[in-house]
Amino acid sequence: MITNFDDLKEDLRQMIACPVCKQELNDNLSCTKCSRHYKFERDIYLLKTKLSDQEFQWNDIYLDPAKSNQRRQQYSSFINDETKTVQKKWFQQIVQEIEKCDGIIGDIATGYGDFYKKFIESEKIFKIIATDVDPNVLSFTKSRFNEKFNLDIPAVATDGKFLGFLDKSFDWLVSFAGFSNIPEAELACGETYRTLKKSGKLLIMHSFVGENSKSAELAARYNLGDSFTESRFKRILRKSGFMNISINSVGSALWSKNPMDLLPVEGDEVEYVIIQAEK
Ligand SMILES: C[S@@+](CC[C@H](N)C(=O)[O-])C[C@H]1O[C@@H](n2cnc3c(N)ncnc32)[C@H](O)[C@@H]1O
Ligand SMILES: [Zn+2]
Repeated sequence: MITNFDDLKEDLRQMIACPVCKQELNDNLSCTKCSRHYKFERDIYLLKTKLSDQEFQWNDIYLDPAKSNQRRQQYSSFINDETKTVQKKWFQQIVQEIEKCDGIIGDIATGYGDFYKKFIESEKIFKIIATDVDPNVLSFTKSRFNEKFNLDIPAVATDGKFLGFLDKSFDWLVSFAGFSNIPEAELACGETYRTLKKSGKLLIMHSFVGENSKSAELAARYNLGDSFTESRFKRILRKSGFMNISINSVGSALWSKNPMDLLPVEGDEVEYVIIQAEK
């Protein structure tokens, strides 16, 4: 639903924190504990430190408005029909699930905003904050949504492993393919748990590969091992404190060779799931 985010932006100012100390920021966006200074540029809070210097950064060609559609089409051309069918079903199911989200919602690893868009397109009005480790993709997505929906979405550049939010900030945290891109699932799940309010909910579109698959082996080399297999990810969610964890499979499909993506590996079976959990 198209709405105006002025109130949410005021809420957001009260929720942001130093990603290291998790303490409030003063009027100059300096941490009230360690004095680290943060910025607000292009209408985006930049709440990252050197700890996130090695994190993923989008290549400029994906953020050039003239070329991004072409890149996306090219990416889509490597996805086989079987995968497209399951992914379509996955999105159809999540659209029903998001209707129950309420209160203040955070979208982890917003990227191009494919998931965020589902909230905008719903009949319901949501208060949802975009986050990603890369401020450039947030700026790109903000401009796109501004043009398309006349909507100025609130955004925070922050690392999923060190979230720049106070404890107990969110009623819901959601993500589509975020946790399979953030290394060290234990840190990311721990931060998700910390920043959820009591009884807050996690709702994510996620995918798994087999325990002994080539994808699982490669993911482990990039510190992504804990989020790629169901048993490991479930263990991490439990270890972080989450309760009532449900993992619903939408279907699976073999992954085709895709030179535009490192993971999964060609020929591996990928299972598409919707995960819900509660603090
Ligand atoms: C496949 S995209 C997710 C799709 C997106 N959620 C959507 O709805 O279109 C993966 C995203 O993860 C982000 N990412 C990678 N490492 C991250 C980290 N450490 N913390 C937060 N986001 C990260 C990338 O910048 C990228 O935008
Ligand atoms: Zn601090």
